Amino acid sequence: MKTLVLGQGGREHALARKLAESPLVSMVFVGPGNGGTATQFTNLEVDLDNFEAIAALLLLQKIDLVVIGPEKPLVEGLVDFLNSHPNPRIREIHVIGPDKACAQLEGSKAFSKLIMEKAGIPTAKAKKFESNEWQLCKKYIENHPLPVVIKADGLASGKGVAVCFSHQEAIEFSSRILLDSEFGEDNNHLLVEEFLDGIEVSMFLLTDGKHVVLLPEAKDYKRIFDEDKGPNTGGMGSISPVSFVNEEFKKKVESKIIDPLFKTLQEENHLYKGFLFIGLMNCDGDPWVIEFNVRLGDPETQTILQRIPGDLVPSLLSIKEGNLDHHSIEISPCAAATVVLCSENYPGNPVLGKEISIGEIPSTSILYHSASRLNGPSKLVNNGGRVFGCTGIGESIQIALTHAYQCVSQVTFEGVQYRKDIGQDGLEWISKLENEASQLKKTTMKSV
Ligand code: AMP
Ligand code: GLY
Repeated sequence: MKTLVLGQGGREHALARKLAESPLVSMVFVGPGNGGTATQFTNLEVDLDNFEAIAALLLLQKIDLVVIGPEKPLVEGLVDFLNSHPNPRIREIHVIGPDKACAQLEGSKAFSKLIMEKAGIPTAKAKKFESNEWQLCKKYIENHPLPVVIKADGLASGKGVAVCFSHQEAIEFSSRILLDSEFGEDNNHLLVEEFLDGIEVSMFLLTDGKHVVLLPEAKDYKRIFDEDKGPNTGGMGSISPVSFVNEEFKKKVESKIIDPLFKTLQEENHLYKGFLFIGLMNCDGDPWVIEFNVRLGDPETQTILQRIPGDLVPSLLSIKEGNLDHHSIEISPCAAATVVLCSENYPGNPVLGKEISIGEIPSTSILYHSASRLNGPSKLVNNGGRVFGCTGIGESIQIALTHAYQCVSQVTFEGVQYRKDIGQDGLEWISKLENEASQLKKTTMKSV
């Protein structure tokens, strides 16, 4: 079977590697891919905005399975386009990702809030304002308790959210969305949201719309500097498992979030298929939803896939027919951790084109490429903010982190920056984790 992963980050590198492990897969393409996927798999030039060109590529390369990595093509309707294509050969292809309507769970924070409110899912209270409601919005913010969270409604490459500790800051950020249309003319509305105080965790699931299987969870480290200082990034590292995500917490996530979400989506005639990422806040042991993403996370994917030892492809292939319940996905009790290496000045304008040197990568870790590019047959340079993910695997978070940082020490380029404290908070929870199950567990399949 020939497969294609669409996207170019570390998440896509990790997905490609996972597909390549399957005995069912003969060929893995990545489009457009990066410097790492170019050497380990086959990169295809592809413009993710040009759906007709993607369809032509799928035909040309006789692709059987496509996994869509990033949110933008999902929100813009790539799945609908391929599944309703006039060419029946295209319609036969297994395309992993939700359709345009379901992808609004990430594409519109207001839509997502509405679904959560209908479903009674615990989430922060929020009020929407349009660009012509500036005065109302300003007044509402002035009377809102602090901190207050301001969110551009649509996709904003992770830059559309600000947690504000003063009214002035909240008003300034709102004016950039509503008055300056900084995130786009069609993204000039926002949510003013209550602040949730707790510990963040990312939960993931795979679904065919009728059955849901929970995948390993991860903790993502979003701030650029150690001790969670500095501006937000796409993610500077991740660990899995997260010890407070025990059976009791997972049961709460299922009963308070997953079950009502799918019930409401079904009532609204939405059949959600693919991966779903639930961004949660653990507030005193109870899960509250911060956001839904309609894809896997980066760098969470690099970490969580290490805890799925088996073949994921049969489960992916069952999604089209709605037979996900015919397959099981084993979750390993092992730990994994990823440390992201990024370019100088990230998350501002990164300094690009620096030559990269890679030493010997230990067998206990994996070097995932994100923003790397081949410059000539063997020269590798950085061409974006987050350049590599160094993923370590081990029996515990501590060992996985040691392995991840051993991998970090093998990669150098001018200006490289990374966090030295990934997983340190996770280590505090370790003793609790050690008391938990130490055998391979079969995930439970739920009908929804
Ligand atoms: P989002 O783009 O919705 O993931 O938001 C980016 C980050 O802002 C999240 O990962 C949280 O750290 C933070 N955040 C978003 N919404 C809230 C909220 N209601 N309360 C506290 N923090 C939040
Ligand atoms: N690491 C967060 C995300 O992928 O959205």
